[in-house]
Amino acid sequence: MTTAAELRKKYLNFFEEKGHKIIPSASLIPENDPTVLFTPAGMHPLVPYLLGEPHPSGNRLCNVQKCIRTIDIDEVGDASHLTFFEMLGNWSLGDYFKDESIAWSYEFLTSEKWLAIDPKRIAISVFEGDENAPRDEVSAQLWEECGIAKERIFYLPAENNWWIAGTAGPCGPDTEIFYISDDDPCSDDCSPACDCGKYLEIWNNVFMQYNKTADRKYLPLEKKNVDTGMGLDRTIAVLQGKSSVYETDLFAPIIAKIEELSNKKYNKDEEITYAMRIVADHCRTAVFILGDERGVTPSNLDQGYILRRVVRRAVRYGRSLELPAQFTWQIAKIVLEIYGEVYPELIDNKTRIHDELNKEEAKFAKTLGRGLRELDKLTNTMQQGDTIDGKAAFRLYDTFGFPIEITCELAKERNLKVDVDGFNNAFTAHQKISSQGADQKFKGGLADSGEQTAKLHTATHLLLAALRAKFGDDVNQRGSNITAERARFDFNFDRKVTREECDDLEVWVNNAIKADAPITMEEMSVDEARSSGAVGIFTSKYQDVVKVYTAGEFSKEICGGPHAKSTGELGTFKIKKEQSSSAGVRRIRATLS
Ligand code: ALA
Repeated sequence: MTTAAELRKKYLNFFEEKGHKIIPSASLIPENDPTVLFTPAGMHPLVPYLLGEPHPSGNRLCNVQKCIRTIDIDEVGDASHLTFFEMLGNWSLGDYFKDESIAWSYEFLTSEKWLAIDPKRIAISVFEGDENAPRDEVSAQLWEECGIAKERIFYLPAENNWWIAGTAGPCGPDTEIFYISDDDPCSDDCSPACDCGKYLEIWNNVFMQYNKTADRKYLPLEKKNVDTGMGLDRTIAVLQGKSSVYETDLFAPIIAKIEELSNKKYNKDEEITYAMRIVADHCRTAVFILGDERGVTPSNLDQGYILRRVVRRAVRYGRSLELPAQFTWQIAKIVLEIYGEVYPELIDNKTRIHDELNKEEAKFAKTLGRGLRELDKLTNTMQQGDTIDGKAAFRLYDTFGFPIEITCELAKERNLKVDVDGFNNAFTAHQKISSQGADQKFKGGLADSGEQTAKLHTATHLLLAALRAKFGDDVNQRGSNITAERARFDFNFDRKVTREECDDLEVWVNNAIKADAPITMEEMSVDEARSSGAVGIFTSKYQDVVKVYTAGEFSKEICGGPHAKSTGELGTFKIKKEQSSSAGVRRIRATLS
């Protein structure tokens, strides 16, 4: 039986043999990207390189990337959808294209030496063509040459076979690879576009040839790229002959723990199985968010809010399974056992995972019962199809800690609706940030890397340097989010930064701007970067080459760019607001004018 650890190794070995450099997984929490809360795919941290910047490790790359897609949260509980997953990816940055990409995917999947999947179990989809790009007969032909029968190659529209992260950025037609299960087709025209379970998507090869602009133009990229992503959990399920991802070695010990804690059996009763899967998936995701190198804690904002949502949803389903108090931590311990070796940051952050899970679970468990009773009272007299008003939904949120998504879910189970707009109005009236915002962002596209954004990005480097000059080297970046209008910068600090202190920071940064220091970039190994005094996140998993940006004597940071050419371009730096982001983390909003 191929284990998950073996599959990770095989994948990287295979692509290393084909001339690829292994790069480390980036953090789950992207930097400088106002449009996504979590890294949704292996390509995401590589966007600047897919758009043409040279990558320090060359033009053939591969890795295993931690990913989160809460867009799939409502599907979780079926056989294959997850909120957290690992993506095995290989990239050609202007190097090989369809020929090698397809031939290698076929070889890796079917060769006896590698995964030895029966080629008759493989189905393929390719792009059928539209006004933006032609029908992808080239890929279909290449698959046929590999030995895939014509009737198992399906032409599908852009909805299925065009890949873009969000709404703008590098994109192109893709060819998806499916494993055909034993299930009977649901209908005569069942195809990989159908979600009946017959076709399980395991790998996606994107032929990135365009850059979609914010005004929806498709500009051909100077160099054509390949971006692929294989789902580790799904492929392992196939290799281990399991009918769902929850029975693989990545999940079986978690499910066993839930069985033990609940004294209930998995795979006997549909509802219990469903609840167990949700608890397993959500606890795993929470562990990875809390344990990330840029980990956040539960809050009502952005990533912290998503974390809160998954923990509270796990608690809600945990209650239906009659799981005992602090079950999330009991499950987290198993997650740490499964993943600690591959992702040592989880072990480094064990205390945070323990403390925050226990705190968040206890907080919600305390009000959940009363909240559910309140909801029953509220809905008992309602008719099917009625709407729970926004103020009531807000009370469930404010008094009982029900994320609006949980209220919507509970309403749906009762055939009721929720006035979400009304909820948002009540929310805004209480001057809190709308959770809708977080969701919208999660669905969104890529960071724009315009000139103003680059300048604000440079400004955040100077701000971090100013913070460290003023408060000491224990201050580190904990996240940032930059648009063309403003920068938002999170850092660890255990109290409010006063207005006077903000004024001092502004003076420091504006002096660095006045000095008009040149910004230079050098590529070096992680070790060299560390000994040169650069700040940033050091991953020591691989002998990696990184970019280090230096702004004169003011700042030196490991970073992917882009940046201004000299500090003098920045204008005037102003701190607009300082606030708490989550426990021990402060947030500064700043502008340039
Ligand atoms: N970026 C592509 C995906 O996520 C490979 O499917």
